[in-house]
Amino acid sequence: AIRKAVIAGNWKMNKTPAEAKTLIESIKPLVKSAGCDVVCCVPYVDLSVVLEAAKGTNIGVGAENCHWEKSGAFTGEVSAEMLASMGVKYVIIGHSERRQYFGETNETVNKRIRAALDAGLTVILCVGESLEQREQGVTSELVALQTKIALGGVSKEELSRIIIAYEPIWAIGTGKTATNEQANEVCKTIRDTVAAVYDKAAADAMTIQYGGSMKPGNAAELLAKPDVDGGLIGGASLKPEDFAAIVKAAT
Ligand code: G3H
Repeated sequence: AIRKAVIAGNWKMNKTPAEAKTLIESIKPLVKSAGCDVVCCVPYVDLSVVLEAAKGTNIGVGAENCHWEKSGAFTGEVSAEMLASMGVKYVIIGHSERRQYFGETNETVNKRIRAALDAGLTVILCVGESLEQREQGVTSELVALQTKIALGGVSKEELSRIIIAYEPIWAIGTGKTATNEQANEVCKTIRDTVAAVYDKAAADAMTIQYGGSMKPGNAAELLAKPDVDGGLIGGASLKPEDFAAIVKAAT
């Protein structure tokens, strides 16, 4: 990576508040001298305890989704405003698990991004192809389309609060990692797409992460690629030593 890296954990649907407190307390000392930005994205119910524990540390706290409306009759949903009011700084939008299991589309991703930006949050936008799509040879077009639609209506100034995570679905939680070249190639496609929509300076300034079975053993070589500016870490973010080792590899 040429840019300062961002390593973000995505705890997914794991950890009760009590377990979250234990986890964040173990992560804290291990990452305190990180040379990259460190973020932990956690379940809604864990936000209070994690925010409290992370106060005054170098760990940014994020949620894993948000709704696009500020408030209203949307049972079970949480708004970006609510998150921001708690002190949450980041939110993951458009994770492939949301797209696959909860009907998330490029259009709803776009609406959620608008709301998150309006609430002052930094977005971690996820894009990426399935194995079938990769085999069909449509990865570049698909990822470019996901990126363009997601960023519709986002101003150039607002791009400083957008991080894009390239996550090939076939590499998530499978132990299969994209090769360093595959990861870099698609991260570059995303950067070129941003350059075409905005300009090269905006694209060069953007943080583009790789996610999908990133772990201590493969992080350094993935992060050494010029267009890979960090990682979105699932499984390994639940293991303090592993997460800290990835943070160290990004430093
Ligand atoms: O958001 C994180 C990704 O889905 C990666 O998950 O590291 O468990 O493969 P993983």
